[in-house]
Amino acid sequence: MAQTDAIDLRSDTVTRPTEAMRQAIASAEVGDDVLGDDPTVIALERAAAARIGKDAALYVPSGTMANLVALLTHCGRGDEAIVGSEAHILHHEAAGAPALGGISLRTVPNDARGRITPGDVRAALRPPGAPRTALVCLENTQNRCGGAAIPEREMRAVADVAHGAGAAVHVDGARIFNAAVALETDAATLVASADTVSFCFSKALGAPVGSVLTGPREFIDRARVIRRQVGGGMRQAGVIAAAALYALEHHVDRLADDHANARRLAAGIAGAPHVRLDAASVETNMVFFDVEGIDGPDFRARLATAGVLCSGMGPQRMRMVTHLDVSAAQIDTAVERIRAVLTAAPPASASR
Ligand SMILES: Cc1ncc(COP(=O)(O)O)c(C=O)c1O
Repeated sequence: MAQTDAIDLRSDTVTRPTEAMRQAIASAEVGDDVLGDDPTVIALERAAAARIGKDAALYVPSGTMANLVALLTHCGRGDEAIVGSEAHILHHEAAGAPALGGISLRTVPNDARGRITPGDVRAALRPPGAPRTALVCLENTQNRCGGAAIPEREMRAVADVAHGAGAAVHVDGARIFNAAVALETDAATLVASADTVSFCFSKALGAPVGSVLTGPREFIDRARVIRRQVGGGMRQAGVIAAAALYALEHHVDRLADDHANARRLAAGIAGAPHVRLDAASVETNMVFFDVEGIDGPDFRARLATAGVLCSGMGPQRMRMVTHLDVSAAQIDTAVERIRAVLTAAPPASASR
């Protein structure tokens, strides 16, 4: 049984709305958004589009739906979309685009820092005929590659290859503001070479629900119809959009605190027994490390009992994510608890 004061580092999706955000929710003006009548959703979509430097935006319930609607809008049945081998779209979205859109996902390798190379993308492009390479997808930050932030020039190099071959570029920017803050740029500059970008309010920005798909006006008009087809039309969605708007206006700059806390966490556990962690790999709000000589699932269970929750990315691979609801003082407490569990952990053979 986990302690009641457990420090939850499983994901930045675990945050609760702040008091100010709850006030925004309580006072939200609403209407029927499927009829285009919800003023708060309209305000959110305008603000999101402006912030990311695209013409228009579409509010959707989740990051998965934002990516799905993007792929269904960019690609027809039988088309191919190139994705990184570690892409969230490939691993964690229940194969929505192949299942619902008849879209093939073709992979190119992500390196340890999440990069895909223009050369690999060029080699994966289909010559004229069928299937057609309709889309190249990038992800920033790259979740499964340590939350790495991909610089603008590297995104542009891949986008240039895609555009040169007549393919569009979509960025899964679930945590694009983490990337922008880490790279000390603004999000619109970072994604300027992409045609469409999705990002999430319900992750590092701390809102309870929702993501957005942004892009050219005509694209978003078509995407709106597809959102309806997949059941993503919402009625008085201003109630949740108000929290998302609050998050966009108040929770972007503070992401630097989460990044500092992630570095603090990494520095605190880097030299601990059984831990293999490259502290220099921590670029945003995620800390990945491997445990050696002890049993990974057993370590996580013991850690939960000691009051720190983390997620497993493989039997021995751990991920901890900092967020709005963990302070620097809680990180210090987490480090103490993690070190104590590691020191007391039985050797791998003894815990089976
Ligand atoms: C990079 C990335 N893209 C998309 C998603 C999907 O978001 P959601 O859980 O809101 O569907 C996630 C979720 O963690 C993510 O990390």
